[in-house]
Amino acid sequence: MPIEWSPSSWRVKTALQLPEYADPERLAAVEAQLRNSVPLVLASEIRSLKTRLAQVARGKAFLLQGGDCAESFAEFHPGGVRDLFRVFLQMSTVLAFSTGVPVVKVGRIAGQFAKPRSTPQETIDGVTLPSYRGDIINSMEFNEQARRPDPERILQAYHQSSATMNLLRALGQSGFSDMRHVQQWNTRFIAGAPEGRRYQVIGRRIEEALKFMNACGVSPESVQALRETELFTSHDALLLNYEEAFTRLDYASDEWYDCSAHMLWIGERTRGIDDAHVEFLKGVKNPIGLKCGPTLQEHDLLHLIDTLNPENEAGRLTLIVRMGADVLAERLPQLLRAVKKEGRDVVWSVDPMHANTIKSSTGYKTRRFASVIAEVERFFDVHQAEGTHAGGVHLEMTGADVTECTGGGQCISDADLSDRYHTHCDPRLNASQALELAFLIAEKLKLEKTDLADHAITA
Ligand code: PEP
Ligand code: CO
Repeated sequence: MPIEWSPSSWRVKTALQLPEYADPERLAAVEAQLRNSVPLVLASEIRSLKTRLAQVARGKAFLLQGGDCAESFAEFHPGGVRDLFRVFLQMSTVLAFSTGVPVVKVGRIAGQFAKPRSTPQETIDGVTLPSYRGDIINSMEFNEQARRPDPERILQAYHQSSATMNLLRALGQSGFSDMRHVQQWNTRFIAGAPEGRRYQVIGRRIEEALKFMNACGVSPESVQALRETELFTSHDALLLNYEEAFTRLDYASDEWYDCSAHMLWIGERTRGIDDAHVEFLKGVKNPIGLKCGPTLQEHDLLHLIDTLNPENEAGRLTLIVRMGADVLAERLPQLLRAVKKEGRDVVWSVDPMHANTIKSSTGYKTRRFASVIAEVERFFDVHQAEGTHAGGVHLEMTGADVTECTGGGQCISDADLSDRYHTHCDPRLNASQALELAFLIAEKLKLEKTDLADHAITA
């Protein structure tokens, strides 16, 4: 018999990837404390993101989602948040200026702490310990105490998320995001690179346009959108104890919202249709992402879509394809056709990171920038061939000048990886690689627009 949904109905289901806490009473006390804590986002903001994503589903906007693979306690610094924000501003400027398409910005931030792992345990030099599952659960250090899941960490993750949120809101509404500062978003290490110079050209043209608009009486003082920007938040809704505690009934709509972030996604390893993660997310009204890996079959996808979005509401569901370029070329057309045939309104996005992780010759977990580009290009090509909208990208990226992914304009080699390899989990694109990718996406999006316009003329 189907159970009735409630924020805790996931507890009777099979829950993969969740830690086992040795002290359930302490965990329950932490959960109780979080239930009475200030939410990180409001239901009205969540609805506003859904409206924007509905525009993406209709082909009228583009979703740019990105941030750390895993946020960490040790690396937390206001400069890091600011630098990521700045890359978002640069990338969305490039995209919007080159294509005229509005960009919906969603960070993997202010709650992206819990990590799914391919093995529950890790063995080093004959010693076996639980795997590291993200700072919200245990510590990366390899000793028994560090690897023990600790409920206190959940509170620390909440406090860090809350501080991050506070800064994101300030950056969005202060002079930082003012279009008149378009040139200042180009940090020194990017400014000298080819993509930094290309960005400067766009910046100069925007400055000219602003001067002209000013002469016509339109300025950042009079138009909020020219002086403010909104970065929505998202994370993998993996640690359901945390998500449940932030799930609140919105009295205005009588609907449940998970107020830990605007958007939540279901990971590749936790999307079992009868499992706990799908059970939890089907009942909250937030926009939901669903990772779609290489083995996902059409009928399973349609079943998931019907479960997660039974009312076929545009903006509710984003399908995040992560297959690697070759598998994507083969599988995506079939998935696209099946979804289109059933008339399902979804956003299609591509995560060109998670199927492209390799070990470098120097032993580092890395990704080749060329593989990332190849998957993004293939994603656009398939959509173009099928006449559908390539709606967004989902990236692991940072505003810092790290050396974690090889290639790109800086020609980072395997030997360079050790220079500034700071990630707590997967390798991220640095700001320069992220900007380079934005230029490429802009070209692809421009082609799509021309193509759709041609269709409209000949139709
Ligand atoms: C992630 O986005 O960090 C992740 C682990 O992705 P996936 O679930 O697609 O492997
Ligand atoms: Co990752």
